[in-house]
Amino acid sequence: MPPSRTDPATSRWAWFARRLAVVVAAIALAGVGWAWWASILPGTYSAMDVGVPDYGGGPGSAALHAGAHGGRTADGAAAGAAPAAVTGTANDLATMSVIDLVADPGRPADVRVELVARSERITPDGGEPFDGFTLNGESPGPAIRATEGQLVEVVLRNDDVPDGVTLHWHGVDVPAAMDGVAGVTQDAVRAGDSFTYRFVAEQSGTFWYHSHQASHPQVVGGLFGAVILEPAAGTTDAVADVVAAIHTYPGGQRTLNGATGDGHHRAEPGGTVRVRLINTDSTPTSAWVTGSAFRVLAIDGQDLHGPGEVEGRAVELTAGARADLEVRVPVEGAVRVQVPGASLIVGPDGAQADTSSAPRESVDVLAYGEPADTGIDPADADRTFTYDIGRLPGFLDGLPGYWWTINGGILPAVPMYMVDEGDIVVMRIANNSGEVHPMHLHGHHLLVLSRDGQPSTGSPWWVDSLDVEHGESYEVAFTADNPGIWMDHCHNLPHASEGLMTHLAYTGITTPFRLGRDSGNDPE
Ligand code: C2O
Ligand code: CU
Repeated sequence: MPPSRTDPATSRWAWFARRLAVVVAAIALAGVGWAWWASILPGTYSAMDVGVPDYGGGPGSAALHAGAHGGRTADGAAAGAAPAAVTGTANDLATMSVIDLVADPGRPADVRVELVARSERITPDGGEPFDGFTLNGESPGPAIRATEGQLVEVVLRNDDVPDGVTLHWHGVDVPAAMDGVAGVTQDAVRAGDSFTYRFVAEQSGTFWYHSHQASHPQVVGGLFGAVILEPAAGTTDAVADVVAAIHTYPGGQRTLNGATGDGHHRAEPGGTVRVRLINTDSTPTSAWVTGSAFRVLAIDGQDLHGPGEVEGRAVELTAGARADLEVRVPVEGAVRVQVPGASLIVGPDGAQADTSSAPRESVDVLAYGEPADTGIDPADADRTFTYDIGRLPGFLDGLPGYWWTINGGILPAVPMYMVDEGDIVVMRIANNSGEVHPMHLHGHHLLVLSRDGQPSTGSPWWVDSLDVEHGESYEVAFTADNPGIWMDHCHNLPHASEGLMTHLAYTGITTPFRLGRDSGNDPE
């Protein structure tokens, strides 16, 4: 149809529609441009400026939070918005730096360990070489063993790791200054420098340590090790135990204690052995046992109450989680503790153990073991928080992507959970993001109350690492009994670096350390 036949009214409308389209596109583009610009984080910033304070219905106010910011200003930092007018009350609020939250400096160490971090080419036993990281020339680093009540001192020296290193004591509720989070509780230890960690072992169980500077590449590359805290003498029968640290090195090399294939642990026929499984990977794994029934003695360093015998079922380990299994060596042959791609054979030298495929069913800890007093009554909660994980397109520090969200916001528009010492806290963690997230809170243990509204009916189930599947929700509770600034993040470490992290902050605690691209600190 010839265009000249269009009548003048129609072409005016067409002209107008085109103009409108251009204007709308320009506005949209300006909106996107603004969102991009607004997402760019300052070169350095304080953890206390990340997130929107969430008081969970408990005491607290903007003025209180401005009081916390006062500490930041006193540290001489100018970046970020100036705190709003500080009220007299807030000025009077005692603030304390995270660096002062330490173990008794006058107390001598009972256990002292020196660890030297190095960039090195590593070849796992039976595996392929890769460029990774060692502690004292090995990966995993040396296992640290102490007894409950002892003061543990670990001197970390960085020989030549260019990005700097730290050590975080995963699951050990250390004083805040010792938590090892670069940019929050300390500066990354640069090559040639050292840092001394000191804490009293107030728990007993299976834990682990790992770098919390550039943690994704450094942990995958080997900067981790086991921490075994034994119960104080005489409290339980001494049982033979063996660590089984599960790790996948670069190139997809699945290992137990740094070796591919079958590992061996010598044990007498008829003896029982506590196998301390540690999942140091970023994804969940299952473990199962052939040749013996077993009991799950502990999860995340917390003994289960009345754990029953299990047969034909697997145990699921969240990323970062531990499970202590008690296995009995048969009179003939050996027990095999298996994870996909690697096994530990427990028995006399040379004894054989069958392999088996992974059982379809797993132990559901929500209903495993016997109930017992938890010492925590969620009805007394002082604060109730929501940690709702989703995913949205947007910008993270200027980078376009499909980013994780917490309560609908992309970092830094995430909640900062504010508590006072002594609070009982209930948190509802929900996940509608399409993927599983192993949620990890530093410095505290969480009591699982319910999953998808179904209450926990077995042993009290305390965790520091909890898998929340897509579509699931958990209700957990804890007592705020360890003042500090504590990361609360996904332990799928790439996810954390994609913004799935926030923190729990005690009112009045400040940090002099800085995050951001110019700070030299990059905890994930
Ligand atoms: Cu095991 Cu924040 O880490
Ligand atoms: Cu995740």
